[in-house]
Amino acid sequence: MRQLYRLYYRSSQTPSIVSDLDSVVQQIVKSSIRNNKDDGLTGLLLTIQGCFLQTLEGPVDSVRNTYARISCDRRHRDPHIIFQGPVEKRLFSDWNMCARSLAPTDKAILDVINAKGKFNPASLTPQSVHDLLTAVAKIQRRTALDTPLTAI
Ligand SMILES: Cc1cc2nc3c(=O)[nH]c(=O)nc-3n(C[C@H](O)[C@H](O)[C@H](O)COP(=O)(O)O)c2cc1C
Repeated sequence: MRQLYRLYYRSSQTPSIVSDLDSVVQQIVKSSIRNNKDDGLTGLLLTIQGCFLQTLEGPVDSVRNTYARISCDRRHRDPHIIFQGPVEKRLFSDWNMCARSLAPTDKAILDVINAKGKFNPASLTPQSVHDLLTAVAKIQRRTALDTPLTAI
């Protein structure tokens, strides 16, 4: 079996997309689902206070090649890898890609990473980004039936 790999990164949304963020994210998710299905990738994309936080997991070559393509995308800038490495199992296997937006008022979520009401992307650690994304994945699973989804 091919090595399973996971990557977490953060980036800043390009200011020009912010006014139209929902439809930009929908376009991203649409092409991500199509490509990621072919590449055996699963993951989650968060938008939070002008930032993207994303995880990609799957075969190591697919993760690396997809991240290389994503990092050149002009809809965001300054991508920083927070964690990458081999893993035992998938944590986001429900979605080839799914987007969820977090508001500054999502206190329960920000508490998970001890953000005390303020989200500072630069202070994210591998552990805090892991805790945040897995907490959001849990909520996404719980609310998928009654919330309109960006992902299909
Ligand atoms: C924040 C962000 C996340 C993205 N995530 C993915 C992804 O998971 N998979 C993917 O194929 N493309 C992703 N993209 C889009 C790629 O950068 C690129 O536009 C796309 O893969 C091109 O494929 P297409 O020609 O099939 O549309 C993302 C772009 C951005 C800005």
